[in-house]
Amino acid sequence: YTVDWDASAAEKGGWDSFMDKEIHEDPAAVQRTLLGRFDKNGDVALDEVRIDEHDFKAIDKIIVIACGTAAYAGMVAKYAIEHWVRIPVEIELAHEFRYRDPILTPRTLVVAISQSGETMDTLMALRHAREQGSKVLAICNTQGASIPRESDAVLYTHAGPEVAVASTKAFVAQITAAYLLGLYLAQVKGAMFRDEIRHILDSLKNMPRKIQWMLDTQTKTIHQAAERMLNAQSFLFLGRHVGYPVALEGALKLKEIAYTFTEGFAAGELKHGPIALVDEGEPVVFIVPPERGRNVLHAKVLSGIEEVKARGAFIIAVAEEGDKDVERYADVVFWRPACPTLMSPLVDVVPLQLFAMDMAKLKGYDVDKPRNLAKSVTVE
Ligand code: AGP
Repeated sequence: YTVDWDASAAEKGGWDSFMDKEIHEDPAAVQRTLLGRFDKNGDVALDEVRIDEHDFKAIDKIIVIACGTAAYAGMVAKYAIEHWVRIPVEIELAHEFRYRDPILTPRTLVVAISQSGETMDTLMALRHAREQGSKVLAICNTQGASIPRESDAVLYTHAGPEVAVASTKAFVAQITAAYLLGLYLAQVKGAMFRDEIRHILDSLKNMPRKIQWMLDTQTKTIHQAAERMLNAQSFLFLGRHVGYPVALEGALKLKEIAYTFTEGFAAGELKHGPIALVDEGEPVVFIVPPERGRNVLHAKVLSGIEEVKARGAFIIAVAEEGDKDVERYADVVFWRPACPTLMSPLVDVVPLQLFAMDMAKLKGYDVDKPRNLAKSVTVE
């Protein structure tokens, strides 16, 4: 895919940057990745994945190999797939994977997640896994790229070409594809009842509409927050459970296009050291878990917000609409529509993508072509 960086506004769909266009394609990226992957009964059907059902049934472990944003998508999927399928899912940064002599067997499914399908670190890790006799399934956004070509099977994301160097719509598409894989595994292994699986699929099919709601209603608040925090020298991003990889992804976005020092970490780690970083006015972004009435983690994240608030932090929260507890402490809230915990990364990442883009634009940086970065890292 050759990029015409000076593409006219028409090629950017009327948006002033590819990144803006691609964030607004988040809903379609999820929608199109779901398309055509169900049978007439509404069960998951991954006919295009060339691994037969017998081999899928025999899988007793998954190792995800990926880099950057793709690795964070894999981290989100880990929580869901382990919960649904009850097999261990390990996330390995591809560039570390083959140098640590990993334990691989023919019953290990290695899942290589890559938007470009050309990331050399991931390709080399894939080759190592196949040499060790494991099957490799690629989740890729680029038809016919090296990684899918060298894998045993591929489950393509259909996010459409992602031009901006900072990955956005591919992230939500990768989570969607990984969820389809997890639900398919649960189906063939009988790990869940069919009606349970269909209930989860219904909530997944509902997510494009919820992402669109975020884009339609929160953009102004996000832009105002960026204006307000423009001169901040550093940010902390915190989340728990599936909110943890979302915090890492939000931090990466701000690093790579607004060139701002940002640390993403598990909210539970706060009192084990990082709270020492909190000073008067330090902006701290919390991904607050949904389902506050039933989710024990909600209260734990709230206590983290209270702790940093007491130390003068500026609190930005991504929280569920109507969450009065959060409203009491947060200086700014990006509201998310109600959704199941495992689906929340698909909406929670959207304000963080927009926030990073707005910060970079306000600083006068090129959001599509950030300094020092390439769209695909084809060297090890
Ligand atoms: C994402 O914003 C980054 N540009 C980068 O981390 C990227 O996700 C990583 O290099 C992996 O790329 P891939 O998905 O094409 O393999």
